Amino acid sequence: MKRDFISIDDLSNDEIEALFACADEMADLLAKREPCTLLAGRIMATLFYEPSTRTRLSFESAMHRLGGGVISVADASSSSAAKGESLADTARVVGPYADVVVIRHPADGAARVLAEYADVPVINAGDGAHEHPTQTLLDLYTLRKEKGGIKGLTVALCGDLRHGRTIHSLAAALVRFGAELIFLPGRDLEMPDHLARRLALRHGCRLRRGRLSGVQFLMDRLDAVYLTPRQPPDDFAFSEEATLREFAERLEKIDALYVTRVQRERLAGGAGGDAPYPVQAAAVLGDPRYRETIVMHPLPRVDELPYALDADPRSKYFKQAAYGVPIRMALLLALLEARKIFPVSPAFVSPGPASAGAPGGATAAPILRGRDGAAPPCPNARCISRREAHYLTPTYRVLARERGAAAHSLILSCLYCDAEVAGKAVGHTGERRYARYDAAVEEVAAEWAAAGTLAVFAGEADAEAAGHRPFTPGPARTILPADAVEGAIVDIARRIQAANPDLGRVRFLGIPTRGIILARRVAAVLRDATGTEVPVGALDVFAFRDDTHLDAGAPEATPVPFRLEGQVVVLFDDVFYRGRTVRAGMHAITHGLNLGRPEGVQVAVLVDRGHREFPIEPTYVGEAIPTSRRERVFVRLREHDGVDEVVVQAPIGETPMGMTNDQ
Ligand code: CP
Repeated sequence: MKRDFISIDDLSNDEIEALFACADEMADLLAKREPCTLLAGRIMATLFYEPSTRTRLSFESAMHRLGGGVISVADASSSSAAKGESLADTARVVGPYADVVVIRHPADGAARVLAEYADVPVINAGDGAHEHPTQTLLDLYTLRKEKGGIKGLTVALCGDLRHGRTIHSLAAALVRFGAELIFLPGRDLEMPDHLARRLALRHGCRLRRGRLSGVQFLMDRLDAVYLTPRQPPDDFAFSEEATLREFAERLEKIDALYVTRVQRERLAGGAGGDAPYPVQAAAVLGDPRYRETIVMHPLPRVDELPYALDADPRSKYFKQAAYGVPIRMALLLALLEARKIFPVSPAFVSPGPASAGAPGGATAAPILRGRDGAAPPCPNARCISRREAHYLTPTYRVLARERGAAAHSLILSCLYCDAEVAGKAVGHTGERRYARYDAAVEEVAAEWAAAGTLAVFAGEADAEAAGHRPFTPGPARTILPADAVEGAIVDIARRIQAANPDLGRVRFLGIPTRGIILARRVAAVLRDATGTEVPVGALDVFAFRDDTHLDAGAPEATPVPFRLEGQVVVLFDDVFYRGRTVRAGMHAITHGLNLGRPEGVQVAVLVDRGHREFPIEPTYVGEAIPTSRRERVFVRLREHDGVDEVVVQAPIGETPMGMTNDQ
């Protein structure tokens, strides 16, 4: 079974360490100038459809040093790509000519396509703005050599973080190895959101951002800094001042400044091209705080790194480029299995073109192949799946569900370029029916994904346009009519009064929208009964949820209008389900909002539907309603909905393949 190297996530940390050990050996071999025949009789094809000095020549040097042969396309115009030959055909033609193929290509995701169609191992030498994983190997190797290890280092990534493929691979690898990152992007050249999300979802990072203009000399030309602490003590316990303080502390110690050039060849419409570009390497090396900081650069440089720095012993970029040969020797030996280098069985086998099976990379997400309009096209105009759409199907990893500000989404990540699409409706390809995506269809959507029958649409209109019709919902059951809703509210008020004789120290916080209405109604009952007016505020927990991303477009939250120091807080929500909303609410109260330490927190809900995912129980429940996960619970309150009632309904009345909603 062949092994490709397309993304840095295709190798485990142990495998990378094993490559480094082999690279050490290769470096010794090179130093002794001993002849080597480990790859005698083997041929490497290099297909470089974009310019390169270091990557192509160091690969070719590595192969020659190992006794192998090289065939090369050094320029797209000299190959049949110039006549319009597809990558799929190129793979099937060149594969039999060589034992391993190294490709550089201007389209994001091109290397994955070559790997799908070639029978021999494929190595990504840089695909558009996507990844450059072999550069990352030598970057990590440089850090290990020059700093003694990677864990615990602070690395500042500087320049064009948006299009810098070296940055995209390196950021993921650094956090995997336990380094902390500071992002110093040029204007409009910030790390793309989907890559920040990759750091969060695949590697457990949390992004924090702060504006530091003028705070540090490093920031003089920058708008923003992003920091990804690997295991922050508290993801959300930050205020503007705390963030600035923390950044300032982090900036005291930078182990490596990784500088990159602006990728002018990838700038669309000149975005970011004319803005001031960060050129602070000289200032860093001149500052006594950074006397141990090394400067790295994948090269080539343009004008972001002055030549005057070359003589400084902390400038490591030429050494870094030289490490490319032993590293690539080790990689060729590993992939061609001339040496048993990898310590564990392969973590990644590239799926063939027709496979709906194992996904690429280290994630076990199901794969969605969007045949016949069953998935939207990749949103990335540079993606190979759009450039060669005449034979490539939009293909995604079904990555995560996300509860957005307004609706749930299923997040799809393009198998080729990692760009993301949010699906707001899901369908069954056999039934050609769809439903709005939310928690009630989550389970059945996962089953369809596993069975290869899932369709995902950006919205319900797209599902209709693709010829899908809505699923017939199950029968609606009214669980609480108007008088029962009113009775439950009065009952909650009585129990709150009994548990809290000093109502003067009680504060109500309602989670929008209906939690606030419930809080107001309970407060009105208490005022009528006792004459005490319990203050009511809104608590927007969106930014504190664990199933959203900080960049997911949180609406501006209304500030809580009172302090909570020494008060008893009652948190109101309409439905208690997994426990995640209330967990987020408690986090906001105790850590996030700096409102003082309350004496206690209680929770009041109109409906408890079960299915807890956190060990949190409400203090006051209007009605406990056993429900299936595949049902939606609709709480309607007259102030917002014109009527008081609680209704339960399954969005998919009869699921395909004879399943019932309650399975
Ligand atoms: N670092 C790097 O990829 O250099 P080349 O573009 O010269 O290969």
